[in-house]
Amino acid sequence: MARKQKDRISRRRFLEGTGVAIAAATAAPALAAQPFDSAQGRRPSSAPQARTRIRLTINGVAQRIEVEDRWTLVELLRDHVGLTGTKIGCDRGECGACTVLLDGRPVYSCSQLAVWADGRTVQTVEGLARDGRLSALQQAFVDHNAAQCGFCTSGQLMAATALLAKTPRPTPPQVRAGMAGNLCRCSNYNAIVEAVLAASGSGPQTTAGNGGAQ
Ligand code: FES
Ligand code: FES
Repeated sequence: MARKQKDRISRRRFLEGTGVAIAAATAAPALAAQPFDSAQGRRPSSAPQARTRIRLTINGVAQRIEVEDRWTLVELLRDHVGLTGTKIGCDRGECGACTVLLDGRPVYSCSQLAVWADGRTVQTVEGLARDGRLSALQQAFVDHNAAQCGFCTSGQLMAATALLAKTPRPTPPQVRAGMAGNLCRCSNYNAIVEAVLAASGSGPQTTAGNGGAQ
C-alpha cells in the first residue's frame, strides 16, 4: 500500500514536472518565432523606424526612394531596388564583396547608410553591360577565368572599374594594390590581375567587350 502511494506521488510529481516542461517548451518557440533580420543582425524592434526620402541616380536612372534611416546602401540596393548583383560577404567592411561606385569611387556598400547616398550617383555591377554586351572588363574576366565561385566577382569588377578609370594602363603592382580591398575566398588572385591587365590593354589580349574598361 505504502509502495502504491509512493508510486502515485512519484507519477503525479512526474506529470506535474512534465507539464512545466511542456509549458516551457511551447513558450520557447513562441519567443524564437520572431523573424530574424539578417541584414541588421538582430531581431527587429516593433518601434516605428525613422524614414527619409532621398534622391539618387542608380546606374544612370534617377530615383526618389523613401528609406529607413537604419538601412545600409547594400540593403537598399538588394532588398528594395532588386539589384542583387551586389553581394554581402562579411557585412562589416572586411571583404569587399559589396563594393559599388559612389560618385565614381569604390565604397563598401555594407558600411554606408542609404541616406548618405542622397544626391549622389551609384553604379553597381548591373550598370556595366550596355545593350546586352559585357564591358571589356567583364569580358576579360570571362576570358581569363577570373571568376570561380563568383561570389566576390561583382565587387572585384567594381573595384577594377574604378582603378581603370583612374589609371587606364596600370602595372601589375598597381593592379594588386588597387584590388587589395577585395578578398577572394577562392584565391583566384592571379587570374583576376591578368583579367584587369588584359582589359587595360597592358596584358594578354582578350575578346572585345562593349568598349572601354568600364
Ligand atoms: S560585405 Fe561589405 S565589405 Fe564584406
Ligand atoms: S571567385 Fe570565389 S570568392 Fe572569389
